[in-house]
Amino acid sequence: MAKEVVLSGIRPTGFLHLGNYFGAMRNYVRMQDEYNCYFFVANWHSLTTHPDTRELRNSVNRVVAENIACGLDPEKVALYIQSDLPEIAELYLYLNTMAYKGELEKTTTFKEKVRLSPDNVNAGLLTYPVLMAADILIHRAVKVPVGKDQEQHLEMARNFAERFNHRYGDVFPSPQAFNYGTELVKILSLDGNGKMSKSENQMNTIFLADEDEQIRKKIMKAKTDGGPLAPNSIKPDYIENLFTLMSQVSTPDTVQKFEDDFNNSSEGNCIIRYGDLKKQLAADMVEFVAPIRAKAADLQANQDLLKKITRQGAEKARASGAETLRLVREAIGMN
Ligand code: ADP
Ligand code: TRP
Repeated sequence: MAKEVVLSGIRPTGFLHLGNYFGAMRNYVRMQDEYNCYFFVANWHSLTTHPDTRELRNSVNRVVAENIACGLDPEKVALYIQSDLPEIAELYLYLNTMAYKGELEKTTTFKEKVRLSPDNVNAGLLTYPVLMAADILIHRAVKVPVGKDQEQHLEMARNFAERFNHRYGDVFPSPQAFNYGTELVKILSLDGNGKMSKSENQMNTIFLADEDEQIRKKIMKAKTDGGPLAPNSIKPDYIENLFTLMSQVSTPDTVQKFEDDFNNSSEGNCIIRYGDLKKQLAADMVEFVAPIRAKAADLQANQDLLKKITRQGAEKARASGAETLRLVREAIGMN
């Protein structure tokens, strides 16, 4: 049986961080053996919010290098740059006729971006979910490993695909957000305000390129409180976030010890020491990030290799994209 098609993308709008890793890239790495995988750098998408392109080339290369450093094998997956696949642009055009102004205006990420940059409400920003749907549907992907923040975009992609199928005939399967756990992951910013993100809140975001000392400093400053007031309390989200991070990089015994300390604590008898928890987390995080940082730096110094990898990725992706477009044109009657 043919392997199911998987696709995901990351915008080259800054340095990759733990949210990208645990929300998205870690799943990519696990999926590469089981599925037919396409992963790409969404440089067209970044133009909607980052019109200054001086940094873009560097960022694109860094994202490619960091993906490989995290364990993606360019021989197993197609790793490419969005702008190397013009087929996406044509599909975007057709899908734009499936998307209604009202639903685009209601998209959470759109509203947020309008709020943050009221002077740059461009049509590309409004139709961001349509371009994202084209990225996915161009390979007729069914599984899309993303973090929780992308759930609404996936729902929109399903709607556009369904409307297309309904109007012109069945071409697209229904793409679903995917994560190996039961729930999509969301890594919070270390001050507890919002999510870790490339472009906001940088002092409270841990980047894969951060030096050991920066990692320690950021974790030691992370928000905590005076401890639980009763045994087996529900954890506030900023504490839960530290445990989530710990469960990703520390041994199960270590996590269990701090879980037990938390659950046995109460007012006047606080067993858990957040200072110790953060020290342990920092030490384990440093060990986790250091080899990724080193490998990504090596790769970034080898531009020829990166170019070869993305060219090879684009070739694989274009073969798949061209076949989808052929079906799309045939369905519409444009062939
Ligand atoms: P950012 O929001 O930092 O600019 P992107 O929007 O390019 O990152 O996201 C790339 C991938 O990383 C997406 O799958 C997204 O869901 C995931 N992701 C980003 N931030 C987080 C986070 N804080 N927690 C979990 N997943 C995240
Ligand atoms: N919108 C995604 C983000 O901000 C990036 C992205 C673009 C994407 N196209 C995609 C993710 C297609 C998955 C599939 O994170």
